[in-house]
Amino acid sequence: MPLRFDLFTLFPDICTAYLQESIIKRAQDAGIVSVYLHNIRDYATDKHHVTDDMPYGGGGGMVMKPEPIFNAVEAVLKDEGLRTKDQGQSQESEVLHPSSFILHPSRPVPIILLTPQGRLFTQSVAQELAAHEHIALICGRYEGFDERIRLHLATDEISIGDYVLTGGELAALVVVDAVTRLRPGVLGDPTGALDDSHASGLLEYPHYTRPPEFRGWTVPEVLVSGDHARVARWRREEALRRTFLRRPDMLARIDLSNEDKAFLARLAEAVGNSKSD
Ligand code: 6GU
Repeated sequence: MPLRFDLFTLFPDICTAYLQESIIKRAQDAGIVSVYLHNIRDYATDKHHVTDDMPYGGGGGMVMKPEPIFNAVEAVLKDEGLRTKDQGQSQESEVLHPSSFILHPSRPVPIILLTPQGRLFTQSVAQELAAHEHIALICGRYEGFDERIRLHLATDEISIGDYVLTGGELAALVVVDAVTRLRPGVLGDPTGALDDSHASGLLEYPHYTRPPEFRGWTVPEVLVSGDHARVARWRREEALRRTFLRRPDMLARIDLSNEDKAFLARLAEAVGNSKSD
């Protein structure tokens, strides 16, 4: 089954260039994913197609109005993504857990708001989303969304990191990209996604290609040795080393073999010694 993304934005042109190149383009050409861009402004019903308004209670900034976004998402998802619950009264706790849907209770369409207040987008969230057949992404601009969009339309909220962007478009493209490359057939090498940084819980080991010597810098001898077992061990240790030095927080979250633990213990000792020199 192909995966369909519907992306709702005030600036579809921001997204087109990225979607028309390289692997994401090929995935669409191959029918593995499709990405539909919808301009929220087209769904504003007033004469000037206004999509934002002043916040109740005063203060700076503008807020995205609910009507154009509800109209857009409902028109595009029609019967597919309608929630049974709610009809106005959903609780905060339901919002981050997709509630049930009328027509396809086994295949609910996540309706995801891209916002810095969302749950953090990680490789495991990408894997979770890659299991769906249809995903709706709503990009905000201005200071934020009218809260009723969060409470009564969205099923999930995602942030791509602890910094603030001017809009959700880059974040939506990040989600489309990371999810697309996990779908079968997108990467040339089917094992390509397995060794990725983060997929294994470790950062990736170093890569080298020809030439064997470049400006006097050589490729590690083990990689040209032809000894596959040594290569595999070297890669594992380099991945562990890199993760230990750069992202020790990741090591706490994964299962390590006794061999891995012994290597890390030696590494920790070596690092400790070099610090006290
Ligand atoms: Cl999803 N949107 C915006 N505006 N800023 C962000 C973000 C999203 N994720 C991190 N920063």
